[in-house]
Amino acid sequence: MLRTEHLTAGYGNRTILEDVTFEIQNGERFIVLGESGCGKSTLLKAIVGLNPPISGRIFFHDEEIIHPLPEDSDFYQKIGILYQNSALLNSLTLEENVMLPITMHYPDFPVKIASDIANEKLAMVNLYKDRDKYPQELSGGMKKRGALARALVLDPDIIFFDEPQAGLDPVTARDLDALFIKLNEQLGTTYFIVTHELLSIKRTAQKVLMLADKKVLFYGTFDEAMQSDIFKVKRFFNVDKYSANQ
Ligand SMILES: Nc1ncnc2c1ncn2[C@@H]1O[C@H](COP(=O)(O)OP(=O)(O)O)[C@@H](O)[C@H]1O
Ligand SMILES: [Mg+2]
Repeated sequence: MLRTEHLTAGYGNRTILEDVTFEIQNGERFIVLGESGCGKSTLLKAIVGLNPPISGRIFFHDEEIIHPLPEDSDFYQKIGILYQNSALLNSLTLEENVMLPITMHYPDFPVKIASDIANEKLAMVNLYKDRDKYPQELSGGMKKRGALARALVLDPDIIFFDEPQAGLDPVTARDLDALFIKLNEQLGTTYFIVTHELLSIKRTAQKVLMLADKKVLFYGTFDEAMQSDIFKVKRFFNVDKYSANQ
């Protein structure tokens, strides 16, 4: 569904990541992990084109994606993005926020049908009754679910999440993970999740890509990661057992 070949990404002439190669299967929950600052968000931004890669290749359904995208590309209709801060617009109701990708990409789409689709997605994330509320009236967890409904509204093939549990209490984070898993299983949507939250990784990961020192340190299934002999991988999953300098 999505693969990269030797991706290099960074800012200006500063390289943050080098030679990142991986592939994600249809329907998979793929987790990008690693310590803060290792380049997880940079990788996400390179793939979706918010900060295009310096070199390397990206393939989506075996078609090469070259940023900046040509005007007739439908890449953004086929992916959903859930930003770290939810990024709901404060001047719009929840329903209007969720409708936004439809109105943006399909300006002639009938408003009534767009509204029905938005409300169907809001029901999936248990926010139907809150559809007329503004973002300021929502809790952190509700905002994340609202942003998820918006990311789902065009029935994307893949959703990119950047630290979806950031700022949530442990109970809300657990409930959000359960919702992510339920929707992934029900809809078959592929997930690309950037996170360093250990509990969340343990709950949701199927395949993992761990970044360190600008490179891919580990790439494989979650079970393989748990059995890895690579020191930094072992330390990441069992941080209390290992000291920093070991
Ligand atoms: N817009 C930017 N311009 C310049 N450097 C950046 C920018 N965003 C991030 N960086 C740098 O890139 C490195 C990796 O950042 P990031 O990808 O955000 O890490 P992570 O998401 O793993 O915490 C950090 O050293 C950070 O300071
Ligand atoms: Mg980040």
